[in-house]
Amino acid sequence: MTDETPRPLIQPITVRRGLGDHDVQGNFWQKVGGRPTFEKLVRRFYEGVQTDEVIWPMYPADDLEGAIQRLTGFLEQYWGGPTTYSDERGHPRLRMRHAPFPITPLARERWLVHMRAAVDSLELSPLDDATLWGYLDRAAHAMTNTAGE
Ligand code: HEM
Repeated sequence: MTDETPRPLIQPITVRRGLGDHDVQGNFWQKVGGRPTFEKLVRRFYEGVQTDEVIWPMYPADDLEGAIQRLTGFLEQYWGGPTTYSDERGHPRLRMRHAPFPITPLARERWLVHMRAAVDSLELSPLDDATLWGYLDRAAHAMTNTAGE
């Protein structure tokens, strides 16, 4: 072996990762502000939903606060926050839980209009906005369960 031994062309790289689903900046839930951010998102969303002639009739008007807590808890859990949602409600099984509601393409678009306004109100960085929105948009499409009339 001499000093002229060729160096390998492929250098090892180090990927910095924290524990579990934490990247070096913490998880998404923490990064965007934790509980207050998700509660703001969902309260703003339901303000819009309450004005909606298509989807508001599906929601429990006498348990709006409960609905706010359920969606907030689910989204917090999904993004790495506390698991209160599943502790209280079990496995999300969201497709199944939405089966009683006729989610037509129109209903989905109304849901997304109010969610878009709610996401806007958070004024996230473009990357965080795209991360959150990409998920919500895909999830809403997955929840569509009838073509409607
Ligand atoms: C696509 C249009 C959608 C419509 C029309 C819709 C409608 C509803 C309605 C009427 C409820 C019952 C309210 C309550 O008592 O909590 C509900 C519950 C819920 N929705 Fe949706 N939803 C939609 C999409 C979504 C999406 C995309 C998500 C998740 C990203 C979601 C997450 C939830 C959760 C977590 C609950 C509470 C489930 C439970 O624990 O009982 N929904 N939704």
